[in-house]
Amino acid sequence: MKLQKIYILGIESSCDDTSAAVLCNGKVLSNVVASQKIHEQYGGVVPELASRAHQQNIVPVIDQAIKQAKINKTELSAIAFTQGPGLMGSLLVGTSFAKSLALALEIPLINVHHMQAHILAHFIEEEDFEQPEFPFLAMTISGGHTQIVKVNDHFDMQIIGETIDDAVGEAFDKSAKILGLPYPGGPLIDKYAQLGNPKAFSFPKPKVSELNFSFSGLKTAVLYFIQKKVKEDPNFIKDHLNDICASLQYTIINILIDKLKKASKQTGIKRIAIGGGVSANSGIRKALKEEEHTYGWKTYIPKFEYTTDNAAMIGIVGHLKFMKNQFTDMNVVAKARVKF
Ligand code: KG4
Ligand code: ZN
Repeated sequence: MKLQKIYILGIESSCDDTSAAVLCNGKVLSNVVASQKIHEQYGGVVPELASRAHQQNIVPVIDQAIKQAKINKTELSAIAFTQGPGLMGSLLVGTSFAKSLALALEIPLINVHHMQAHILAHFIEEEDFEQPEFPFLAMTISGGHTQIVKVNDHFDMQIIGETIDDAVGEAFDKSAKILGLPYPGGPLIDKYAQLGNPKAFSFPKPKVSELNFSFSGLKTAVLYFIQKKVKEDPNFIKDHLNDICASLQYTIINILIDKLKKASKQTGIKRIAIGGGVSANSGIRKALKEEEHTYGWKTYIPKFEYTTDNAAMIGIVGHLKFMKNQFTDMNVVAKARVKF
């Protein structure tokens, strides 16, 4: 019997990346991402500019994804799109386009939760990549979220800890802004940190109950520290950039690993996955691998291209939902806030 080929088009437009991907039976055939440069100069994402850029990018990005996959759009089995959470104006572009295309091609439509997609990216079919067994713990660390999730099954997830204020990505980006670095500063802090001494400066670790996180205090601590040091020496940032970044990153990683240890102890689960933009960070990747030996963990670290926002992760959720016949209809709307 010939195996049926399921082609899913995934569309992601929740924040400042316009992305489209085509997956065949859970394998990525194409994953095109257009990142919006326009926000760099503003030190953060400007929602109105983001939705305008999505409008400009969406047609060429989808066209390229289909071409790179070497299929015809009429071969698509279904369209999966990010319904939320995210910026409303940005989500609307992907949602409206997905609905129109599904209507035109007369194929099913699948709504996807963005944070669930960051977790389920681990189920993209890849050679030499082991998929986590259930249950496992997933720490989703991005520009908008910081959560520890107990994953019992693909669509049975329970948030057991989350940030009470800023997301960890914001801690990176806002600290980077204080250091005069462009948005998004996370990858730059990572780059400079690799050249610096993580113990050069010490930053306070917040005391937050249970498995929750807080990052707003750290950002304020960085601000006061920099203001004080620059007053004493105007060249302080320039002369100590690597050490500042290394120390800051070291503090953030410690905060994350401490909560993971606690979560693993509480739940007895030793399979640990990470996802979201901050899981691209070289320090957190290294720290997790080191802890594997110390605590008997098995860790799952996504391929670099599936860490920051991408449509391949939306496509894999589409594939998994397709297999369960979980479709939505044309009345579906984008949602800035949406539960699992
Ligand atoms: O998942 P993502 O692309 O978008 C959201 O859903 O928020 O995450 C973006 C976040 C940004 O805050 C960015 O600075 C951070 O991920 N990020 C990093 C690194 N690469 C991206 N943070 C630290 N180190 C990195 N290498
Ligand atoms: Zn994301």
